[in-house]
Formats: sequence, structure tokens, C-alpha cells
Amino acid sequence: MNNMTKPYFRNSENGWGLIARLLHWIVAFMIFGLLASGFIMTDLSFETQGPQKMEMYGIHKSIGATLLILMIVRLVWRFLNKPPRPEPNLKPWERHLSAIVHALLYVALFALPVSGWVMSASAGHPVSWFGLFTFPDLIGKNEGLHAIAEEIHETSPFFLAGLFVLHISGALKHWILDKDRTLQRMIRHTPT
Ligand code: HEM
Ligand code: HEM
Repeated sequence: MNNMTKPYFRNSENGWGLIARLLHWIVAFMIFGLLASGFIMTDLSFETQGPQKMEMYGIHKSIGATLLILMIVRLVWRFLNKPPRPEPNLKPWERHLSAIVHALLYVALFALPVSGWVMSASAGHPVSWFGLFTFPDLIGKNEGLHAIAEEIHETSPFFLAGLFVLHISGALKHWILDKDRTLQRMIRHTPT
């Protein structure tokens, strides 16, 4: 690989490569849709909006399962590909706080789809992918497990929302107050 293409797809010391940037923004976009659809669909009335409710559950579960697959790809890619160094102006507390928030975001990004999946499967509802195929049922009916997964799936969105506030405030602080490249390098290619 020549020097033009190598750092373009992969991360360099100073910036995120195309694959990491694409995965970051696709996952971010999907998360907003999943949070919105999760809250909207659970609020729909089963009696008067039954068909719409069921359809939304199906879409939510299909997108959620896709997100789990993307997160596995993202984690593997992260292990194969070292993230860039933090921008040089970052103070030690900023480095520590962002590392903690990123790690917790990863935890939430796995906890949500896994708990969603376990919640469905343990209630005996198979998970289909947009009606095209059905994922194998690995769990079978299990009320105890269902209750735990439901608890996790209903509390994690609030935990995730708290992390977002920190994450997005951090990104805006670097852009507006510190005027460093932290946000820009997640958006566009950093020439080496
Ligand atoms: C408008 C929304 C968002 C903005 C402006 C934003 C901005 C950023 C920036 C600038 C970075 C790079 C930080 C660095 O270089 O140290 C980053 C990393 C990261 N973001 Fe976001 N982000 C957004 C939404 C999200 C969402 C919705 C999620 C997940 C739910 C997310 C998860 C992450 C994670 C896990 C990292 C660390 C990447 C890694 O270490 O692999 N972000 N984000
Ligand atoms: C990151 C991925 C996901 C996010 C952010 C997410 C988010 C949400 C939210 C916010 C709710 C509403 C919770 C409430 O207040 O009751 C919800 C409900 C639900 N989600 Fe997810 N979800 C994700 C993945 C999944 C997956 C993969 C499945 C199944 C395969 C799933 C199945 C469900 C079900 C069945 C409900 C309804 C629970 C109930 O009726 O009490 N979710 N989700």
C-alpha cells in the first residue's frame, strides 16, 4: 500500500481513518433512530395502534440487531487499528475523562442491543432481520432472564443519554472554546 491510501482508510497518529469515521457516524445516526423509535413505539397504544406498534417493534429490532453487528466490526477494527493520539493541547484530566466516557459509550452500545435481543428471545419472540431472515433462537423462553434484560434495556437509554451530554459537550468545547482539531479530525481526513 502506498502512503496515499494507507492512512486514508486506517487511523494515523494524528487522525481517524475513513473506516473509523464512517463507523462512528453511522452508529451515531442509528442510535438516534433507535432511541426515538424505542420511546415512540412503547408509547403507542396496543388497542388503537396495534399494527403500527408491531411494525415499529420489527423495524427497531432489525436496526438494533444491525447495530450489534456493526459494533462487533467496530470493536475488531479498533483492536486492529490504534486510535490517534489525543490532540497535544489536551490536559491530563481531559484525556482521562474522554477515555472513560468513550469506554462507557462502548459498554452502553453493547448492553443495549444485547439486552434487547435477550429480552425478545427470552420472551419467545424471534428476532427477524427486516423480514428477510430470522436469527437463530439461542435462548428459549426464560422469565427470569427476560426480567433482567428488560430492566437493562429500559434503564440503559438514560445512562446513554447522560453520556451523550458529556460526549457532545466535550466535542463542542474543543471546537468552540479550545479551537483544536478534535472534532474536525472525526469529520474529515487528516493529511499526514
Ligand atoms: C453529534 C454527535 C457527536 C459528535 C459531535 C461526536 C464527536 C466525536 C469526536 C470528535 C470524537 C473523537 C474524539 C477523539 O478524537 O478523542 C468521537 C469519538 C467517539 N464517539 Fe462520538 N460524537 C457524536 C455522537 C456519538 C454517538 C451518538 C456515539 C455513540 C453512541 C458516539 C460514540 C463515540 C465513541 C465510542 C468514540 C471513541 C471512538 C474510539 O475510541 O473508538 N459519538 N466522537
Ligand atoms: C443500540 C440499540 C438499541 C437501542 C438504543 C434501543 C433503545 C430502546 C428504547 C429507548 C426503548 C424504550 C424503552 C422503554 O422506555 O420502555 C426500547 C424498547 C425495546 N427494544 Fe430496543 N434498543 C436497541 C436495540 C434493540 C434490539 C437489538 C432489540 C431486539 C432485537 C430491541 C428490542 C426492544 C423491545 C422489544 C422494546 C420494547 C420493550 C417493552 O415493550 O417494554 N432493542 N429500545
